[in-house]
Amino acid sequence: MTILRRISRQIVKNSRKYSSEKSSPEPKYPTRVFSGIQPTGSIHLGNYLGAISQWVQLQNQNKDLILSIVDLHSITLPHEPKKLSRNILELTATLLACGIDPNKAILFQQSKVSAHAELCWCLGCISTMARLAHLPQYKEKSENLKNIPLGLFVYPVLQAADILSYKATHIPVGEDQVQQIQLCQELARIFNGRFGETFPIPRSLITSSEYGRVRSLRDPSKKMSKSDPDEKSRICMTDMPDTIARNIKKAVTDFTSEVTFDPVNRPGVSNLISIHSFVSGKSVNDICQEVQGIDTGKYKFVVADAVISYVKPIQEKIGHYLNDVGYLYGVLEEGNAKAAQIANVTLKEVHEKLGMTVEGRKRDDIVAKCV
Ligand code: AMP
Ligand code: TRP
Repeated sequence: MTILRRISRQIVKNSRKYSSEKSSPEPKYPTRVFSGIQPTGSIHLGNYLGAISQWVQLQNQNKDLILSIVDLHSITLPHEPKKLSRNILELTATLLACGIDPNKAILFQQSKVSAHAELCWCLGCISTMARLAHLPQYKEKSENLKNIPLGLFVYPVLQAADILSYKATHIPVGEDQVQQIQLCQELARIFNGRFGETFPIPRSLITSSEYGRVRSLRDPSKKMSKSDPDEKSRICMTDMPDTIARNIKKAVTDFTSEVTFDPVNRPGVSNLISIHSFVSGKSVNDICQEVQGIDTGKYKFVVADAVISYVKPIQEKIGHYLNDVGYLYGVLEEGNAKAAQIANVTLKEVHEKLGMTVEGRKRDDIVAKCV
């Protein structure tokens, strides 16, 4: 089965889940899909296969979809301000080029909706340091740091605030995000338990395992990542054809020359087959049969050609959008306003539940007593 078909099947299964939720007499929380992506550089095939292609499919199934460019998350590690502002624009252009339609989904910039940071504070007050210190992403990212920024520690609480600000019910992400979504579920439960029913318990939507975790080309035991210092470890949507060909040619495989799919024992070559299957729309089995007789060295040329042809039209669209920066700002501004409208209502409810609002007559009484 092709990867695209597999993803579609999973999404169809999920839609059945959605529709059964919808057909129940009165769903407490309407289905709402939320996800986020950091503007930390050009997006790579891992982001695309693991997350963005799923977002586009959900959008095209008319799901209520909210996507955030999570710039507050991207300053949790040292960054260059000029690069960040360029990255925000490039990411907006890339998401549009990949098929996100601002008329169907809300696409916005996290820092422009202050409710996220405010809800993060409230959720931070019900989070424990012990729980946050256990999260694998924190452990990984802080491992080589002498002085750990507080923001890096609080990162998953802000992520929970992103999701809960919209009372989102489904979160399409890559496999690496599962633990953070679990923390979000716990915080929603704790909040509901202490202060009264407020949030749905959101569920993660992960694409089938191979694509939920696209591997590094240099070290197939690791995921493909924007933060890997070795640029040859990934294929970015904006890479030139010769860079794509070079990186795939240098991909670490193993000492067997045949092309066979065995993610456990042959993760390197299997990763290439998965990527090839996705971009060509062919099944893993068909590919393995087709390339019988050629060795992994030659197979890399086949994969490179397929990837280059797949990303070419996307790259052309990215270039087109980047030529119209005014349009990109407009898309974000509109998205920011729509997102803020929803998130501010949730924040108001949270303030009320926490006892931080003094309303109506009560407030008049207090003012009268004070003067
Ligand atoms: P990030 O680049 O960390 O902001 O990730 C954006 C989205 O891409 C998240 O949903 C991640 O789970 C997903 N993602 C990142 N790297 C990979 C990968 N190597 N394989 C699959 N999904 C990924
Ligand atoms: N932490 C996510 C990542 O590194 C990005 C993110 C931030 C996110 N907030 C989110 C993803 C909310 C899903 C939902 O990829």
